[in-house]
Amino acid sequence: MSRSDRNPQYYCPLNDKFISLNEADLLVVSREAKEDLPPPGEPVAKSNIVLRRAYEAEAEEVEDMCRYFWDETEIFCFDQTFDLNECVNFLALAEGEIAGLISWKRLGEAQIVVVLNVYPEFQGQGLGRMLLKEVMEQGRKQGCRVIRVATSNDDLPALCLYQRMGFQLTAVVPDVLRQHHDEEITGFAGIPVRDELRLERRL
Ligand SMILES: CC(C)(COP(=O)(O)OP(=O)(O)OC[C@H]1O[C@@H](n2cnc3c(N)ncnc32)[C@H](O)[C@@H]1OP(=O)(O)O)[C@@H](O)C(=O)NCCC(=O)NCCS
Repeated sequence: MSRSDRNPQYYCPLNDKFISLNEADLLVVSREAKEDLPPPGEPVAKSNIVLRRAYEAEAEEVEDMCRYFWDETEIFCFDQTFDLNECVNFLALAEGEIAGLISWKRLGEAQIVVVLNVYPEFQGQGLGRMLLKEVMEQGRKQGCRVIRVATSNDDLPALCLYQRMGFQLTAVVPDVLRQHHDEEITGFAGIPVRDELRLERRL
């Protein structure tokens, strides 16, 4: 798990520009001011957002999306490597276009989120939150008792999202990502990608 810096991963509303991880930075703003920031393009009407399982014929698009963000389709987290093809892949479509992906796998009574991505053009419109809510509902129906996610130490937007959705930090695995990649990569805002942060919430 370490993010690709080849592709823009976020949108900067102040410069109206899609930006890479190294170009990204933190700015603390009031909630009120945030509401006035322009989205990247026209916001998608809720009625034009569809969440559904990816069809087998969409395997390539699912892999492309994973590669866009992670440069790979096998994701290392929770001490093991998850192959996307063995996960439940769930898509968010905005006006018919693939906008977001969440991939998960059941391990015992736990639902493990392996991938959660929203393309920059569609970020900030609640799709990440919707995808997580949807898979939590699936997990509950299937009798899972807990949902777990892992993220890297630099991924401050994801940490914000998970904690605002009721997840709590359960473990830090120091240096595991640096060792996994055999080198130190820089992530969000130039922060070195080193540690895996694990979070969970009860379902
Ligand atoms: C993290 C990610 C999935 C969020 O998707 P999204 O559709 O933009 O998220 P939402 O619009 O549902 O936002 C939900 C919350 O996430 C947090 N968040 C999302 N983007 C953020 C950003 N750029 N800066 C700060 N917080 C952010 C906020 O807490 C937000 O809550 P709010 O809407 O009340 O402010 C998306 O930014 C992404 O794909 N990032 C790149 C890949 C990645 O890091 N994935 C997570 C791997 S563990």
